[in-house]
Amino acid sequence: MARTATTYVCQECGTAQPKWSGRCDACGGWNTLVEDIVAAGPPRGLGAKRGRRLAFASLSGDIVELSRRVTGIGEFDRVTGGGLVPGSALLIGGDPGIGKSTLLLQVAAALAQSARAIYISGEEAVDQLKLRADRLGLRAAPVALAAATSVRDIAASLDAAQSGEVVVIDSVQTLYLDTLESAPGTVAQVRSSAQELIRLAKQRGFILLLVGHVTKEGMIAGPRVLEHMVDTVLYFEGERGHPFRILRAVKNRFGATDEIGVFEMTDAGLTEVVNPSALFLAERERDAPGSCVFAGMEGTRPVLVEIQALTAPTSLGTPRRAVVGWDSGRLAMIMAVLEARCGLAFGAYDVYLNVAGGLRVSEPAADLAVAAALSSAHLAVPLAVDTVVFGEIGLAGEVRAVARAAARLKEAAKLGFARALVPARRSADAASVDIAVEELAHVMELLAVVRGSGRRAAAPRQGRT
Ligand code: TYD
Ligand code: MG
Repeated sequence: MARTATTYVCQECGTAQPKWSGRCDACGGWNTLVEDIVAAGPPRGLGAKRGRRLAFASLSGDIVELSRRVTGIGEFDRVTGGGLVPGSALLIGGDPGIGKSTLLLQVAAALAQSARAIYISGEEAVDQLKLRADRLGLRAAPVALAAATSVRDIAASLDAAQSGEVVVIDSVQTLYLDTLESAPGTVAQVRSSAQELIRLAKQRGFILLLVGHVTKEGMIAGPRVLEHMVDTVLYFEGERGHPFRILRAVKNRFGATDEIGVFEMTDAGLTEVVNPSALFLAERERDAPGSCVFAGMEGTRPVLVEIQALTAPTSLGTPRRAVVGWDSGRLAMIMAVLEARCGLAFGAYDVYLNVAGGLRVSEPAADLAVAAALSSAHLAVPLAVDTVVFGEIGLAGEVRAVARAAARLKEAAKLGFARALVPARRSADAASVDIAVEELAHVMELLAVVRGSGRRAAAPRQGRT
């Protein structure tokens, strides 16, 4: 008989520890360790019984194309790599209230046109779901609804040939397995419940969409342990108070992981944003110092965003550096380069950096745009409104080439930008784009351009582009 042993599992990061303590050694979370009983025993070898021999295949030979279920919601399909693969499990993580249930109800309704779709909610009653569907104009969609949390009941309902082909579980934190003692939402429950459903999905070939809430720390609570169990992990993110939502693939066994889908939350649910650049630039204040348009890439798609910087004399001993939508370590680096190589002194100033519209930029290619925004703010000189910027900056102040220059320039030209500040070494295909390109080799040259913008701005103002 297997002995049982008690371990303590952190609900934030999933680390197991032999002893309880107030603070998790691994992630530093307070009061996150919960008792977990696992069957233990000495590791056993294979014994005398022989296993089945494997039939090995070669890398060449025919490839069976994955049949995918396409939702018709273009932004969703893009992020999933061109539709959902039967038998696969997806985890959709995001803050509470960001719109996960709304998105998945819309996805289920879209797929219900061609497949049997099931939506099981552990958070809302069926009537609430109906109300939501009414608001979304989806009352006619043949989605089968249920409110349930018991994995035993859910599995029994799904384990039939004529059951669902697409199954949404909202959310994984509400599930519970009656064979475990721990409460719903604990690592043990979340892991075991998900495991049961994922196994069933593989066996029955249905698409499993699991919703997972994220904690303040930005991890899917407890279900961080789920990330390696599922085929695809999508994060739904956005700023509260902004209508824009971004669906991002962070893991995808069936597609690229750097794709994003952009949505807008309206009164009638989530609508696709087909031209995100226009949206992110819509509220741009012209001729304001500290504003710079960055030509970025999100996956295969170019996206233009406004980067805003503000510097203000500090009243504190240690000046503030606050960043929204970018990496604070990277900001410190760019400021250090501007100080050391160009003599811009930020020491007595608070510095704020913001990526407008609620987007999170992670590319190093934004360095040059951040430097332009910072120097424009610091020198109180607005940049020309028709200029886009991209390029990576090295510690010596050199401007480094970045990938996909042509795609960035094309998007900028399409949106009416006339000038681009770019790294000196561009790919040859960028030459064909109809935009005036200024190549910069060093941040000193950027500073010269920013100072020059002041003189340009004194000329008659240009109309809105
Ligand atoms: P919801 O999908 O319930 O979020 P989650 O499942 O991630 O917790 O959406 C929450 C918010 O979305 C809610 O505050 C109301 C808003 N909302 C709209 O603005 N329009 C709509 O059509 C719907 C259904 C929701
Ligand atoms: Mg919800």
